[in-house]
Amino acid sequence: MTDPSVQTDSPADALTIKLPAGFDVLAADEALSAGITEALDQVEEQLLEALTTDDELTNTSARYLAEAGGKRIRPLLTVLTAQLFDGVNAEVRQAAAVMEMIHLATLYHDDVMDSAPLRRGTPSAHEVWGNSVAILTGDLILSRASRMMAELSQEGARVQSHTFERLVMGQLHETVGPQGSEDAYKHYLSVIADKTGSLVAAAARLGAHFGGAEGAQTQLLHDYGEAVGIAFQLADDIIDLAADGEASGKTPGTDLREGVPTLPVLLLRGAAAQGDEAARDALTLVDGDLSSDEALAEAVSAVVAHPVTERAWEVARSWSARAKEAIADLPDSTVKQALNSFADAVVDREG
Ligand code: FPP
Ligand code: MG
Repeated sequence: MTDPSVQTDSPADALTIKLPAGFDVLAADEALSAGITEALDQVEEQLLEALTTDDELTNTSARYLAEAGGKRIRPLLTVLTAQLFDGVNAEVRQAAAVMEMIHLATLYHDDVMDSAPLRRGTPSAHEVWGNSVAILTGDLILSRASRMMAELSQEGARVQSHTFERLVMGQLHETVGPQGSEDAYKHYLSVIADKTGSLVAAAARLGAHFGGAEGAQTQLLHDYGEAVGIAFQLADDIIDLAADGEASGKTPGTDLREGVPTLPVLLLRGAAAQGDEAARDALTLVDGDLSSDEALAEAVSAVVAHPVTERAWEVARSWSARAKEAIADLPDSTVKQALNSFADAVVDREG
């Protein structure tokens, strides 16, 4: 997913992480925001260390995407949810680094599957080293992430392996599409819950868990993360159409060209089936040959111009609202306010 913009300042040499849109509210509590920034700097160091190998090729390829930038949303959520309880400790930091490593590993694999030319504004790993090295680099990162979580606790390893299974099943179900009489919309929602909601949920849950929360409280944070992740991916899919490549660091229209059905296109098919002429015209372009950049741009413009795009934003906003509901019963705090504004920010962005 394309996260609300936080950028690392050349992570290798300047580690101070800037908090992304939605977390500005933390600035009101200087001690809290200093603690979070310090924890994230430590997580960043741990992350880069974990991506370092003796092997010359993988040392470069494994650090490549982390060093290309990224927003570190998952580690931030882990650190933040720990602050709702007893605060950040070494286990929270290690779990936060593992969350980012799993995210990175999925990106190496996903860009191969999507034939995506760009990631984080730079050529995707498979463009640089070829598919096999990109896939194996993802595997290497995952194996290190698994070892690090195994060092932490059995519960951490359980959450991680369950999340891994959901990531794989989400990506698999996206790849094969709805089967038989399966409803396309339900299928799409289950795909994004699995491929994105699962890891954001794990990030929020494990911060609470290693930060000292009880079982029922970890579940609240899990539900928050799952809904935020879904809102996030819905927004990402809309932005895939609407964004300029510079803002998102990716190539606009990639999903359309790859035939990945996203919410605006699903809604377009529904509208066309009900006799909407503009939807039918847009679908003729979407289902046509999109190999040329001109044809892709024309199809993208037709979808963006149709009201389905605004309806897709409304669905994304409803998931953001669900995320806030999940934590409504937590006592008020600056961290809770930050989680609420983050839920707002994921559906209020351009890239
Ligand atoms: C990005 O979706 C893809 C994911 C969030 C999940 C990827 C999952 C896998 C590759 C399977 C599991 C693999 C591992 C290594 C655990 P997208 O293509 O819609 O987002 P994008 O626009 O950022 O590319
Ligand atoms: Mg992709």
